[in-house]
Amino acid sequence: MKNVTVVGLGKIGLPLAAIFANCGHFHVYGADINKLVVDQVNQGISHVNNEPGLDELVAKAHQKKSLEATINTAEAVSKSDIVVVIVPVLTRENGQINYQYIDSAVEEIAKGIKMGTLVTFETTLPAGDTRNRFGKTIEKISGLTMGKDFFLSYSPERVYSNRIIKDLSSYPKVVSGYNKRSLELATDFYKKGLNCEILQVSTLESAEFTKVAECVYRDVNIALANELAIYANNLDINIMEVIKAANSEPYSNIHLPGVGVGGHCIPVYPYFFINNGMHEGLTTLSRKINDSMAEYAVELIEEIIGSLKDKTILILGLSFRGNVKEPTKSSTLLLIEALKERETTVCVDDPLFNPDEISKYGVIPFSNQLADQIDAIILQAYHDEYQKIDFSVFENCSLILDGRNVLNQREIENLGMKYLGIGIK
Ligand SMILES: NC(=O)c1ccc[n+]([C@@H]2O[C@H](COP(=O)([O-])OP(=O)(O)OC[C@H]3O[C@@H](n4cnc5c(N)ncnc54)[C@H](O)[C@@H]3O)[C@@H](O)[C@H]2O)c1
Repeated sequence: MKNVTVVGLGKIGLPLAAIFANCGHFHVYGADINKLVVDQVNQGISHVNNEPGLDELVAKAHQKKSLEATINTAEAVSKSDIVVVIVPVLTRENGQINYQYIDSAVEEIAKGIKMGTLVTFETTLPAGDTRNRFGKTIEKISGLTMGKDFFLSYSPERVYSNRIIKDLSSYPKVVSGYNKRSLELATDFYKKGLNCEILQVSTLESAEFTKVAECVYRDVNIALANELAIYANNLDINIMEVIKAANSEPYSNIHLPGVGVGGHCIPVYPYFFINNGMHEGLTTLSRKINDSMAEYAVELIEEIIGSLKDKTILILGLSFRGNVKEPTKSSTLLLIEALKERETTVCVDDPLFNPDEISKYGVIPFSNQLADQIDAIILQAYHDEYQKIDFSVFENCSLILDGRNVLNQREIENLGMKYLGIGIK
């Protein structure tokens, strides 16, 4: 049985480690710098919420003793034939890439790596980084030669939180290798580990750019939907009806408009492309459009209820997306900024966060006692809990802005409140 180390036991790394540990082919070490995560995994407990099937897989692997977590990456790597890297690359406020976490993970890998090991990167990366940044670091620290003494692969992770385990078995796995042997080893590993369709591409850079291109496509498509929604709103046309009708034609796949785009991926990875010489053009413009939707939404509210100074607005959802506990680049942060500029009191509700976690953003965590103080509500992340929300408790609320175009317009209007969507009024 081969040993695999998965470096980074986060929302994606833990599901991967748990699947590999249950496939019958591998003993898995999960390496993470967070001791709490390591301790939980070593008790058979998943620290990732709302991921169907994950709790069971972690518990099963623990029982079978096929998954062991550690904070010592180099030691785990020294015992492994395959190393999977799924530690995030972030961007700074100015869009510049922050390699801090992954650089230090790769240094640890390089200290432990032995002859013949395959290192496969899954973190979304700018094209060229697997070969030129990380492969070279491993060579420099370990003294081993890429493609001869150790093997290198890149295989993007394209899954969606809340359905990772399903996506891992149903999406084709795009796999690339530094050379023929690297590709063979990576293909064999993913076939055994994931039991899914494998889509080989010819270079590491093609595989890296595949994921970035997917994200750029989605960001640009959403920006287009937002632009169409703003136009529809001006003409009093319901954009959702238009998109549904337009997408009945097989070549039309207009995405959904909304109050903004958030999370680790779509607002981040276009910068891997923009910052590498593509400063102007559609991608940059799309980023601007999507990031301006929060301001647009606040202006829509202002047009109806007037100055927002000293008004109290409740934002539903701190998370960037429904049912995922992830505040990174959430549109809520842009909404808070736009409202604070207007001296509005901002309350935020999110059933996935505790009040302390919410107040860190300089807002008031919502509690039921505040319901009668709310002047307007913005739905930002459509958590399951909000499907059953009783808006009648907001006695003094005159307007609901549905930032995801999912609420029941008629029910809200029957309560005597104004309903606004993004491209619906
Ligand atoms: N979350 C998603 O929906 C998603 C979807 C597709 C792809 N991805 C890719 O997966 C990557 C990881 O995302 P995630 O959501 O799992 O991140 P995450 O923040 O949930 O987890 C990252 C983990 O890495 C650990 N870590 C940080 N530095 C480390 C180091 N030096 N050594 C070992 N562990 C370290 C952290 O402690 C954390 O547990 C993203 O950067 C992205 O490229 C994410």
